[in-house]
Amino acid sequence: MHSGAIKLGDSWILCAERVHDRAFHMFVARALEGLTVWGILEWFYAPAIQQLWLARGLFLAYFLVNLALLIPQRRKKLNRSMLWLDIVANIAPMAAATHWSGGLYSPVLPIFVIKIGNYGLIYSVQTGVRALGATILLLGSFGLTAHLGFGPSAALHLVPEQTRQRLTIGFGAFLFGIGCYGALRFFRELSDRERRLAAALEEQQRLYAQLLVEQEQLRLLSQRLVEASEATLQAVSRELHDDFGQAITAVRMDLNRVERELPPTSTARQQLRSARHQLANILQNVRNLSQILRPGVLDDLGLVAAIESYVTRFSERTGVSVELQLPSSEPTLPPEIELTLYRVLQEALTNVARHARAHNVHITLERTGDRIRLSVRDDGKGFVVAERTAPPSGFGLGIAGMRERAQLYGGNLRVQSKLGEGTEVIVELPLVNTAEGDRERGVAQHRRATG
Ligand SMILES: Nc1ncnc2c1ncn2[C@@H]1O[C@H](COP(=O)(O)OP(=O)(O)OP(=O)(O)O)[C@@H](O)[C@H]1O
Ligand SMILES: [Mg+2]
Repeated sequence: MHSGAIKLGDSWILCAERVHDRAFHMFVARALEGLTVWGILEWFYAPAIQQLWLARGLFLAYFLVNLALLIPQRRKKLNRSMLWLDIVANIAPMAAATHWSGGLYSPVLPIFVIKIGNYGLIYSVQTGVRALGATILLLGSFGLTAHLGFGPSAALHLVPEQTRQRLTIGFGAFLFGIGCYGALRFFRELSDRERRLAAALEEQQRLYAQLLVEQEQLRLLSQRLVEASEATLQAVSRELHDDFGQAITAVRMDLNRVERELPPTSTARQQLRSARHQLANILQNVRNLSQILRPGVLDDLGLVAAIESYVTRFSERTGVSVELQLPSSEPTLPPEIELTLYRVLQEALTNVARHARAHNVHITLERTGDRIRLSVRDDGKGFVVAERTAPPSGFGLGIAGMRERAQLYGGNLRVQSKLGEGTEVIVELPLVNTAEGDRERGVAQHRRATG
């Protein structure tokens, strides 16, 4: 007894807590509703219904469908189509039952009041109003079709003629009202959507313009970085070439002098000679390094000469034979374009030496209209470009760097490669120049003329 009372108390507390749970609330409301309808069925209709078990079976099915509807409602939350499904699944059978059991005089009608009140409670007042609208629509439709001579008309004789006519007119007006309201809403929604679309478009355009500005700022920044690093390389290169080169040459000359003063067969003289040879090698390396850092020949003799000189050294160093197809006369190019082409050539040939295992390389430099195009094609092993150049591939920065340099001056870089057949790197740069480019070109020509 005692434990029973505690259990009962517990269950009440549990129930009180769960009433705040929306799903539980809905379940209880549905269950109460079902029980009420079941009671009405049993107390009022059972004596008059011949196939009582069929009626009970139908009611049970309807009740279970109603309960089952709670499951998707709970999972999918309450979206609009679910609500309508609920209203139709609940109200349609009840409206049919109301119609067949006496229409406006049917005892099922009060259940509608409970039902609609329930919608208002479970969902919202708006949903209750919707359910009321759906009820009137369904009942009116049944009545109208019966009035016009279609469909079952069991309830018709219960309604006086005058009331029927009034109801028909009223229902017609109701339908007209709904139609007008629907049309109004449709157009309002359409114009709302248009307004939203226009606003979104405007926002998109604003963002795009902002993106362009930021892209341009980024490009300028990268350009400055490249220029700054080129200037540093140039300074280091000059330092190497002038200071180191001259210092080593001076030491060599001193050694030479001392060597000549020593007896020809002395060991010291031989050691000095060997030191002098080593210094000659160091000097050569320093010059090479200085050339790589900043090709003086590019500034002094122009791009074609610089390419020829670089390629000759490349061939000697790697044993790869290079075929050159260069313009017969030196094209007049802005210095930044020359430097970009030269840097691309350096990286493309370095890649050939490091990765391609090629025997032959074909280099073409040609000017077509207002564009200059450099192509470096090898007959090496090739590679899958997308795999090796995708951003996080971890395969180095050479190709990305070449591409970035080309893009800085409005150009583009393509890498075409086939496994077993070789690779071609093509860079194309526009020569339509800004005032700045023309000014710099003048400076380059002047430098060449005076250097
Ligand atoms: N001519 C080529 N033939 C075959 N494979 C190549 C060639 N050029 C590039 N590759 C492949 O593409 C990859 C990426 O080249 P990328 O120049 O970007 O980087 P990397 O040469 O590996 O390193 P680094 O940053 O020093 O240039 C290389 O690792 C190589 O596998
Ligand atoms: Mg590389």
